[in-house]
Amino acid sequence: MEFVQDPATLRQKLHEIRRQGKSIGFVPTMGFLHEGHLSLIRAARAQNDFVVISIFVNPLQFGEGEDYEDYPRDLESDSRLAAAAGCDLIFSPAVRDFYPPGYATFVEVQGSITEGLCGTARPGHFRGVTTVLVKLFNLVAPEHTYFGQKDAQQCLVVKKMLEDLDYNLQFHIMPTVREADGLAMSSRNKYLTPRQRAAAPVLFQSLQQAESLIRGGERDVASLKDAMRNLIASVPETEIDYIEIVDTNELKPVEQVRGSCLIALAVRIGSTRLIDNIILEV
Ligand code: PAJ
Repeated sequence: MEFVQDPATLRQKLHEIRRQGKSIGFVPTMGFLHEGHLSLIRAARAQNDFVVISIFVNPLQFGEGEDYEDYPRDLESDSRLAAAAGCDLIFSPAVRDFYPPGYATFVEVQGSITEGLCGTARPGHFRGVTTVLVKLFNLVAPEHTYFGQKDAQQCLVVKKMLEDLDYNLQFHIMPTVREADGLAMSSRNKYLTPRQRAAAPVLFQSLQQAESLIRGGERDVASLKDAMRNLIASVPETEIDYIEIVDTNELKPVEQVRGSCLIALAVRIGSTRLIDNIILEV
């Protein structure tokens, strides 16, 4: 497996790969890899001749007071894990090379899909995500790219951007990988104290509770959100950022559950903000 930092070197190497007629699968990440990331790398391995992942903690997608400085980094362990999952090349640019002084171009998806949910809590976040991804997609020019359902809103925003900007790129969404107790895997789980870690499965439990209420016939979103809120509030150190039930196309809140809906939440456990979601067909 190769490790490349310089964007020009990456271009050159991938030019050669493409010249050999090989297909390229790409998994963008911010590193500190876990089974969630590895499931995407394995999916890319199964469908492509050459697998590239990026590891770049993208300053543009962190707001003021967020955890950019503290975001966990471990390139050595990441290299080992990525290689074992079938990665051929890690691209990990330096911030100064990716956003040199004078950098001035940004890509923004507008409308309800970036305004609600994490878009409300983290203004500018998705603009940072789409901007870095355009740069990465342009450099890597893959045939296939793989994203996790764990970040459902990110998936929708990126899919919309790819459509609007006429990218010829197959976009794959892979299921959320969870710990045995249901907690969605996340690089940020590392921040949790043992007590907070014990509290964290309540995110998924509240989603499961909503699902079973819906399966039992409940359709009223206000009642469902109340039930979720009560369950989460019963666990120490939790503070709800949002709980939303939205349609899966535009991410607009619904009052009654009908058709395909996304139940998504963000909860702070201590100072760590965790997100999770499920999609239901009713
Ligand atoms: P990061 O949080 O490192 O996630 C990289 C990819 O892994 C994303 O597509 C994310 O949805 C997926 N992922 C994370 N946890 C997962 C889990 N438990 N199960 C399945 N997939 C999971 O998302 C980002 O980085 C950044 O915003 C990025 C797209 C790289 C742009 O900077």
